[in-house]
Amino acid sequence: ARLVVLVSGSGSNLQALLDAAADPAYGAKVVAVGADRDGIAGLDRAGRAGVPTFVDSVKAYPTRADWDAALTAHVAEHKPDLVISAGFLKLVGTEFLTAFGDRYVNTHNALLPSFPGIHGPRDALAYGVKIAGATLFFVDAGVDTGPIIAQVSVPVLDDDTEETLTERIKEAERGQLVEYVGRLVREGWTITDRKVSIP
Ligand code: GRF
Repeated sequence: ARLVVLVSGSGSNLQALLDAAADPAYGAKVVAVGADRDGIAGLDRAGRAGVPTFVDSVKAYPTRADWDAALTAHVAEHKPDLVISAGFLKLVGTEFLTAFGDRYVNTHNALLPSFPGIHGPRDALAYGVKIAGATLFFVDAGVDTGPIIAQVSVPVLDDDTEETLTERIKEAERGQLVEYVGRLVREGWTITDRKVSIP
C-alpha cells in the first residue's frame, strides 16, 4: 500500500513509519512526504530515506482554496491508499476532504474528545487529568472530531512538565500509529455510525 505523510515539524512519527515500512512484511511504503513549510526536520528525514517531498505553503497561494487545491493535486500525484497527518499543523479544505476524506488519518496527542487543538499535553496538564494519551482518527471537517481508530493512554506523573508529558505521549503515539496504519492497510476497515472497525 502507498502512504503519503504530511508533516509540519520534527517528524518523529514519520520516522517511525519510515522505519516500520523498511520491512516488506509491514505492507506499506511511504511514497511521498508533504509539508506546509520549508526547513523542518521532517523533510530532512524523508530526504535521508530517499522519499520524494513537496512543500505547499499557504502563503504561496492567493487564497486558502487555491492552497487546498494544490495540496490535493500534489498528494493525488502519488496515488496514496492512505494519507497520514503526522504533526501536520494545517486544516485541509473541502477539495482535499472530497478527494481523501475516506482515507485521511491524523494522530493527535490527547485523548479526544478532550483537549483538541495544538496544545493537547499542555491543556491536559493544566486541567489536572491523571491519564493522558494519543488518538488516531479519520479526519472530518471539524477540528479533531472525526471517527476514532485507536487510543493509547499514559499516566500523568506528579512532577510532569509539559515537556516530559509530551515526550511520554509521543512515545506511545508512535507505536500506536505504526501498529494501526499497518493494520488498516493490511486488513482494511469499515466505518458505521462513527464506529471504525478493522476486520
Ligand atoms: C505529535 O505528537 C502530534 O500528535 C502533534 O504533533 C506531534 C508531531 O510530532 N500534533 P512529530 O513531528 O511527528 O515529531
